[in-house]
Amino acid sequence: MSDSRPIGIFDSGVGGLTVLKAIRERLPKENFLYFGDTLHFPYGEKTAETIIQYGFEIASFLNEHQIKALVIACNTASAFALKELIQKFDFPILGVIQPSAKKALAFSPRGNIAVLGTRGTIRSMSYQKTLLEMQPHSKILPIECPLLAPIVEENFTHHLAARLIMETYLEPLRNFPVECLLLGCTHYPLLLDQFRELMGNIPIVDSASCCAEELCSTLKYYQIENHNETEGEISYFVSEDPEKFQKLGKVFLKTDIEVVQKVNLCDSLILNWSFGKP
Ligand code: DGL
Repeated sequence: MSDSRPIGIFDSGVGGLTVLKAIRERLPKENFLYFGDTLHFPYGEKTAETIIQYGFEIASFLNEHQIKALVIACNTASAFALKELIQKFDFPILGVIQPSAKKALAFSPRGNIAVLGTRGTIRSMSYQKTLLEMQPHSKILPIECPLLAPIVEENFTHHLAARLIMETYLEPLRNFPVECLLLGCTHYPLLLDQFRELMGNIPIVDSASCCAEELCSTLKYYQIENHNETEGEISYFVSEDPEKFQKLGKVFLKTDIEVVQKVNLCDSLILNWSFGKP
């Protein structure tokens, strides 16, 4: 049995491309529909109600395109909307929090984990609750890092300002016997080298690879893998500014994005934008 229906992936913008990249490396034959909600970026400062509404609209749009599974490739949206979306749709839905928490605990015998994320993700307590459910003796240090995603969006990752901000956010670690640093935001893998420099030998876990591994198991479990011989296709949709997505997306994906379609979710009007094509 082979199932060629696409897998839906969504995020508040380009950040989820780190997840798509990791998934694509493991599942090259699958077809993907990626939705970046660029109109509403950043999700990290929005309320739970608003994010659930956005998540519902995006999942409905992807559902119209007959997806076989959905990945919420955004920590903030996973924190706020995963449960609600699972209740409303029939296809398997994965968030990034559970798989990342599991992996972080694998690196932390005593469960001493520092979690970095947007204000929304940290205040939702999602990581804290998930880690404590999995390992009740965990000691978690949650750190809100509202400036890091914009730094990545503005391509300031190698700027001295980024370094100083990161050092400031990591200051509470001086008094914490950390065993693992969990990057609870899709944008932070682009700062991985800088985090490594600051953290020395402490293991660093990000949501991209964990989520990709979880998706492989989910497709196997539901027997919905695509066994085609040919490489799968990726279609990109955004809610605003396809040109910016295309430019920034290249930094995240490390490959060109040829076509990005702008979608108005309110009336599902699709305007085709095709850059770099005659
Ligand atoms: N995708 C978001 C996250 O992982 C990036 C930041 C944001 O939208 O605020 O939380």
